[in-house]
Amino acid sequence: MKVALTGLPGAGKSLVGRLLADELGIPFLDLDDEVSREAGSEPARLIDSLGLDAFRSLEHRILTRVSGEHDGLLALGGGSLDDPRNAQLLREWRLIWLRPSLTTLVRRLSGDDSRPLLRGNLAARLDDINLRRRPIFSRLAEASFEAETEASEVARLVGRYVQEVEWVGPGVLWGRGSRHHLARFAPGRAAAVIAQPVTQHWSEEIRRALPEVPILAFDDHEDKKTLDSVRSLYGWAAQQAFDRTTTVFAVGGGVTVDVVGFLAATYLRGLPLVDVPTTLLAAVDAGIGGKVGVDLPEGKNLVGAFHTPRITVVDPEFWASLPTSVLADAMAEIVKAALLEGDSALEALEEMAWPATPEDLEPVARRAVAVKMAIVEADPKEEAERTYLNLGHTVGHALEQATGYQMSHGHAVAIGLSAILRFGAPQGRADGLVRRVEQLLLRFGLPIYADIPPEQLMQPMGLDKKRSDGAKRLVLLERPGHPYLAAANDADLRRLAEQMVRD
Ligand SMILES: NC(=O)c1ccc[n+]([C@@H]2O[C@H](COP(=O)([O-])OP(=O)(O)OC[C@H]3O[C@@H](n4cnc5c(N)ncnc54)[C@H](O)[C@@H]3O)[C@@H](O)[C@H]2O)c1
Ligand SMILES: [Zn+2]
Repeated sequence: MKVALTGLPGAGKSLVGRLLADELGIPFLDLDDEVSREAGSEPARLIDSLGLDAFRSLEHRILTRVSGEHDGLLALGGGSLDDPRNAQLLREWRLIWLRPSLTTLVRRLSGDDSRPLLRGNLAARLDDINLRRRPIFSRLAEASFEAETEASEVARLVGRYVQEVEWVGPGVLWGRGSRHHLARFAPGRAAAVIAQPVTQHWSEEIRRALPEVPILAFDDHEDKKTLDSVRSLYGWAAQQAFDRTTTVFAVGGGVTVDVVGFLAATYLRGLPLVDVPTTLLAAVDAGIGGKVGVDLPEGKNLVGAFHTPRITVVDPEFWASLPTSVLADAMAEIVKAALLEGDSALEALEEMAWPATPEDLEPVARRAVAVKMAIVEADPKEEAERTYLNLGHTVGHALEQATGYQMSHGHAVAIGLSAILRFGAPQGRADGLVRRVEQLLLRFGLPIYADIPPEQLMQPMGLDKKRSDGAKRLVLLERPGHPYLAAANDADLRRLAEQMVRD
């Protein structure tokens, strides 16, 4: 486990760090001690003798080594994150921010004049450093702790947190019960938008997890994924006097995550976003990768942005209240992810119990998340391989639009996957993979055909966003784990639409 503590001077990074390392049973390292050991002098003296810039270069060199070698707890220097290169070094670390109040810091540090950056008027110097570093800590730290109390108590709280909430990758956290830690993800002002059906089951717990945070219940039917809904959220944001530092929590399924994400992407040119996906589909798909947006009458997801959540936190316990049909919807995207990953992922789905409990679902969901994260990391702006995630979505999105969003996204994707596999299969409908995937989808209670005349899909398919330079592109599958792109003309699209109709 790689955990780094950051915070202002006096926050308790070294003291808490040592206790926390003990508690977690992992080795402890203090970056300031490493610097002293290697340079033969303490950081304070080095800043005086070398100047701040030379000290930062030295610190960066040592952190380059330490961040690679050390596996355990690391207490950073107060200004280590001033250097953006250090943030990059710590990308795979869990960064925890200890943030006692300035009053507490002044009390702890008065009388200590060893710190060159704090000489003079201590309160004023701390205030200045705090104003400069706070935005950096807010952006980079995974979670923050007020850290006013005894070091042992702070160590206990942080210890519980890192054990209950697992780090899956940069910005993605996972854990049963992680919903109880939501306040840790908003170091200052915050507001939460929660899908209405979610409030019915979870509002008390969320209220407890986010005390004093204004909460808005959002009517999240797919036909509410519109600019009108965004407009009314802007109104609420203005009423609540959001500022650039207000963290927005999006708590709900894919619709909520898309719409609230778009609010966060655009209000005041961008606010910090925390996604709390409460459907399985949002956990494995919509909550990962930073695509946010809304539908237009002319087509699905036509207006949007890339706005990566600061944190996406998945609590599988939310799935317990999902209707079976909504769980099944997610299986369509999970089958898609398995098709992109390869044969063994499909086998895992074939072996999974159905109906499935959250415990059954967790391993396959984690796998689907890993597939999506890897693709998004390689191509965040969908210029190349991210397009593969649209497997099955050309017909899928067209079906949603053609049915006036009465067909769920998961159902549409299940039909879309079946259609594209039939379309691309050498032996058409009799192809082994086609049969295999159809069986899998049917087992999850998903449809593989639609009773809609294929002509009704032509116009929606023509507007599909996957067009590039005027050519329509389809994502096809050579075999599991091997997607590829192919140009499609109108006749191809017609033949594709025909594949969704039963023979
Ligand atoms: N941005 C992306 O990358 C991306 C990826 C995939 C899908 N999507 C979008 O996601 C949407 C589909 O998402 P979805 O399937 O989550 O649908 P959804 O958001 O409509 O949720 C389905 C229903 O379940 C309810 N619900 C949510 N959590 C619940 C819980 N824990 N208990 C009980 N009920 C709960 C919701 O309120 C809703 O009524 C589509 O609009 C799709 O376009 C976006
Ligand atoms: Zn989808």
